[in-house]
Amino acid sequence: MSQITHFEIWNLNIGIYLLMLEIKQLCKSFQSGLGERRVILDNLDLTVESSERLAIVGPSGSGKSTLLNLIGALDKPDSGDILLENQSVLKQFDKELASYRNREIGFVFQFHHLLSQLTVKENILLPILAREQRVDAQLLQRADYLMERLGIENLHKQRPSQLSGGECQRTAVARALINSPKILLADEPTGALDEASSEQLTELLLQLNKEEEVSLIVVTHSMKLASRMDKIYRLTNGKLQQQ
Ligand SMILES: Nc1ncnc2c1ncn2[C@@H]1O[C@H](COP(=O)(O)OP(=O)(O)OP(=O)(O)O)[C@@H](O)[C@H]1O
Ligand SMILES: [Mg+2]
Repeated sequence: MSQITHFEIWNLNIGIYLLMLEIKQLCKSFQSGLGERRVILDNLDLTVESSERLAIVGPSGSGKSTLLNLIGALDKPDSGDILLENQSVLKQFDKELASYRNREIGFVFQFHHLLSQLTVKENILLPILAREQRVDAQLLQRADYLMERLGIENLHKQRPSQLSGGECQRTAVARALINSPKILLADEPTGALDEASSEQLTELLLQLNKEEEVSLIVVTHSMKLASRMDKIYRLTNGKLQQQ
């Protein structure tokens, strides 16, 4: 009789948890202005491991944001599947999809999308307030921790109009991480920042990726940012090619 050793069980666990995201044969097309359908993503495959960092580069209009929106369940593909820890994201009901977006995925965009009437701390807590009536002490502590970690603790009462671009983006990163997501999706996170703020944000994203054990997918036109990731993929003709 074959016996399963502790080593094999350990290996099995590693095998299960290493694969965070699996994208299979993903297709997406849009209706063009002339009425015909344009294929943007064409049987695209991708796997992302737990805590892995990857960059997606490619020409403007190649479908990078479209791909992130599909991973974040902000849009639905024509066909194909997206699995998060082996569970199909697309087969979930709308209610679960909202919870997936809220809890499993963190988003950072080129422009921060902070709410102007809320303070820094309220903006960071917004993903929690979207699903719960009140914020418990543990999450308030986490917001304080993230603000400290991102160097914005002294700004907690400020509103977005009183912040620099870099401070807004750091607030957006704290908001994206408040629910301890499994994947952080960043679409041109440094695109609107100066050199020094870009450097600072890049360093923080890399540090937090390790500390929070969150997989990081960054879309960028900056080869400087892309080269800091574990892998770089180029999106052209609807497919990803590792560089
Ligand atoms: N909702 C939509 N309806 C129709 N066409 C769309 C829609 N969203 C995106 N597109 C088209 O799909 C293509 C890919 O767009 P996408 O925004 O993903 O490109 P991108 O690679 O992110 O470009 P950029 O680097 O400029 O941000 C573009 O041609 C765009 O016009
Ligand atoms: Mg884009």
